[in-house]
Parts: sequence; C-alpha cells; structure tokens
Amino acid sequence: MRQEQPSPRHIAIIMDGNGRWAASRGLPRVLGHQAGADAVRRIVEASCELGIETLTLYAFSWENRNRPPDEVRDLMQLLDVFLSRETSTLMSQQIRLRAIGRLEELPVGVWDHLRYVMAQTAPFKRMTLNLALSYGGRQEIVDAARRLCEKVCAGQLRVDQIDEACFAQQLYAPDLCDPDLLVRTSGEQRLSNFLLWQSSYTELYVTSKLWPDFSKADLMEAISEYQRRDRRFGGHTPASSPRSAPSVVLHVTAADGHPC
Ligand code: IPE
Ligand code: IPE
Ligand code: MG
Repeated sequence: MRQEQPSPRHIAIIMDGNGRWAASRGLPRVLGHQAGADAVRRIVEASCELGIETLTLYAFSWENRNRPPDEVRDLMQLLDVFLSRETSTLMSQQIRLRAIGRLEELPVGVWDHLRYVMAQTAPFKRMTLNLALSYGGRQEIVDAARRLCEKVCAGQLRVDQIDEACFAQQLYAPDLCDPDLLVRTSGEQRLSNFLLWQSSYTELYVTSKLWPDFSKADLMEAISEYQRRDRRFGGHTPASSPRSAPSVVLHVTAADGHPC
C-alpha cells in the first residue's frame, strides 16, 4: 500500500478573491481586503497549531502596484495595521516574520515598520511567516541574475560555477525550502508570477473558496489532499525533494573561495 506523504513543511498561499468577496456583498473592495486580513490572522494561527514550519503568503504582487492608487494605498495601510496589531501575537506565538520581494518599493514607512517587526521576531523558530510583498517571480529571477553578473564582473565567481544551487542562493530567501504545497483560493488556475523558481515540483491545490472565507478546515482539507498525492520528482516512485529534505547545507563556493 502506498504511504501517505508527511505533512507539508512549507505551504505557500495565493490569497485571491477579496474583491469578489466584497462585490458579492455589495461592499467596497477595501472591506474585502479587510476581511482578507482577518483570514490571514486565522490561517497564521491555524498553521502554527498544525505544526507548519513555513507559511508564505502572497500579499501584494509586483503587478498589483498597477491597481488604482486608492486600492494600493488601502492595501499598504492594511499591511501597516496588520504589522501593528499582530506583532505581539507573533512574539507570543514565537513566529518569525520574514518578507520576500522588491521590498524597497514599499512606501518607506511600511518598509521601516516591516524591518522593525522582522528584527523583533528574528530569534523565533516555531514557525516562519513569510510575506511576499511587491513580489514577482520573474523579478526575483532577474534580481538573482543581476547579482550573479555583478559577482562575475567583480571576479568573485566564474561563469562555469553557476549551477542551480548557486543560482538559488541568490533568491530572496535562499535558506527556505521550496514550498511543498501551493494553495490558490477563488478558483483561478494560474501562478500569477508567484514563486516561479521554487514551485518547480510543488503540489498545486486550487479551491473555489474566496480568501476571506478560507478557514482552518479548508487548510486541513488542502493538507489532507496533499498527503494523498504521489510526489515523484521525475522518477518512478515517491521520493523526497532534495530541497524539501531537512536543511541541506549548500557548499557552493566562488572563484575566490567565498560562498556563492
Ligand atoms: C487578492 O484579492 C488580494 C490582492 C491581490 C492584493 P483580489 O483583490 O485580487 O480579489 P479579486 O481577485 O478581485 O476577487
Ligand atoms: C495574485 O492575485 C496576487 C496576490 C494574491 C497578491 P491577482 O488577483 O493579482 O492575480 P490575477 O491578476 O488574477 O492573475
Ligand atoms: Mg485577484
């Protein structure tokens, strides 16, 4: 009999459907985003209770910057409020806050606030809450390529030393394992520029639930479905992902012996 997958170590979520949730109630979009922030609180707590090691939430994409300025302002304000309200919970629950994306593109006050909360929670190890903000998968890959080019130009790295492991070291959070499970709410079946590099062998789970309605029971259903999947990684039999295995230390060195 085929064995069940162990629980996912890293779950990534495309939190979609706030606007439709609001529209279906005749409410302004901002109230959908507010209800979405409540769902974030619930799902962070649930993930912690379920022993998830890393939860990455797609909160604001690179492309979302092109939404109407009022909506972008509302989203940034909600992020700021979330940081103010949730810091004490993150600290009491021993949750480390991290962020990936072109964070310097965030409004300066929000960026400062985010840095402050990340520093406050840096020692915590129970769970990592990783927020994708001003994040785009293609932008992340371009940024990584630029850093590698700089190293080559500076004579710190040879072109023939660039392989997948070396490249992955230049991503925004190279120490996090790839997501085992990627959940998208609201029924859309696309990645929308999320974790393009890291999702190469991630299990995808789409639910029609809109993000503000997504509950702990929905998360548990996604996890159960994941556990029934057969992960083959291109082989014949279920195996473990190299990047999903307990912290593999990459010994990548550059031309001058410095880590890649
Ligand atoms: C997701 O909800 C939140 C963000 C993208 C910031 P949407 O705002 O995309 O909601 P829909 O897709 O319009 O329903
Ligand atoms: C993806 O949702 C981005 C976030 C959830 C932050 P979108 O609503 O922006 O994606 P598309 O436009 O439907 O692809
Ligand atoms: Mg959407």
